[in-house]
Amino acid sequence: MNAVDYLRISLIDRCNFRCQYCVPEGDDLTYLLQQDWLSLDEITTLVQGIFIPLGFRRFRLTGGEPLLRPGLVELVAQLTALQDVEDLALTTNGFYLENLAEPLYQAGLRRINISLDSLQPEVFDQMIGNGRGGRSRWPAVWNGIQAAHQVGFDPLKLNVVIIPGVNDGEVLPLAELTLQRRWHVRFIEFMPIGNDQLFGDRGWITSAHLRQQIQERWGLTSGQVQGAGPADVFQIPGALGTVGFISQMSECFCDRCNRMRLSADGWLRPCLLNETGQLDLKTALRQGMSLGEIQTQVQALLTLKPDINFKAQDRGTPGTYGRTMSQIGG
Ligand code: GTP
Ligand code: 5AD
Ligand code: SF4
Repeated sequence: MNAVDYLRISLIDRCNFRCQYCVPEGDDLTYLLQQDWLSLDEITTLVQGIFIPLGFRRFRLTGGEPLLRPGLVELVAQLTALQDVEDLALTTNGFYLENLAEPLYQAGLRRINISLDSLQPEVFDQMIGNGRGGRSRWPAVWNGIQAAHQVGFDPLKLNVVIIPGVNDGEVLPLAELTLQRRWHVRFIEFMPIGNDQLFGDRGWITSAHLRQQIQERWGLTSGQVQGAGPADVFQIPGALGTVGFISQMSECFCDRCNRMRLSADGWLRPCLLNETGQLDLKTALRQGMSLGEIQTQVQALLTLKPDINFKAQDRGTPGTYGRTMSQIGG
């Protein structure tokens, strides 16, 4: 059985983008009230008092958009100060990163994954739901990536969700970024979560097909990069960075899942795609349950996790998921 030692902590359910693959067009999202967010101290208490004692060593801060969370830099400092946190990382859309890269690095963060679905501003804006006529958001994200690079974040990973007919023509230019830069570009298969209708209309493209395009252009060897996630990593010969593929549709890596998720309002979820067994850790803390008792409950959920994990045969079935990726934290 896999060791489950990776916790993805969502800090906020809000996002300043509305990526097509994440949020259905026109949907009115309801957001949590701020009083229902786990406080920064509650998060640190749970990490230190529950997850580290249970063997968790790798942590990732997500959203919505985590850079919108007040106190993020302080939280990073609190978490990196904990001795047993071996790996702390962040997943962001990059829009606010230009100013935050330096303070985050100073606070001890070393790893960032940034979404970059296109190198063309118009396509990018279409992907992130920035309607026509407004100022493009692409330059801010690009500057954020550059700032993170200059400050020294390493590895620096770029996440690309490929949607047929929208950005599937950009596989080679995006892979090309890795030739001269120590950047790690990962192509993610579009999943039927968040926007089932777009998924139904557009479908998805296998990682194997994308890999083939890169292979034919430059060749590919196996590669390596620090990480705790499900990406298969390759390298274009001579490139400084790597290309990765996250193939949850064509491969289903759920049987080797090493992670749990904590939502911004404190629900611990054993699986991205299955809500069975969730625990309300915020209420437990606020009602004064002891850390020992909470730990016993989390331990029991860890034991059940292999049965709760999504099963390969359910893959591709639009889910009964109660929340979008922005609410769960991707
Ligand atoms: P590292 O490898 O440690 O850098 O992180 P990661 O790849 O786990 O983190 P990131 O937040 O960049 O995840 C990239 C994407 O992979 C997510 O947005 C999801 O689309 C997908 N993904 C990550 N974890 C899971 C998972 O448990 N199940 C599924 N189906 N997809 C996941
Ligand atoms: N399919 C695949 N990945 C998704 N993400 C959000 N929605 C989807 C989806 N439907 C991922 C993207 C984004 C991260 C925050 O969540 O990788 O970069
Ligand atoms: Fe896009 Fe991520 Fe925001 Fe969803 S949470 S809208 S994927 S930036």
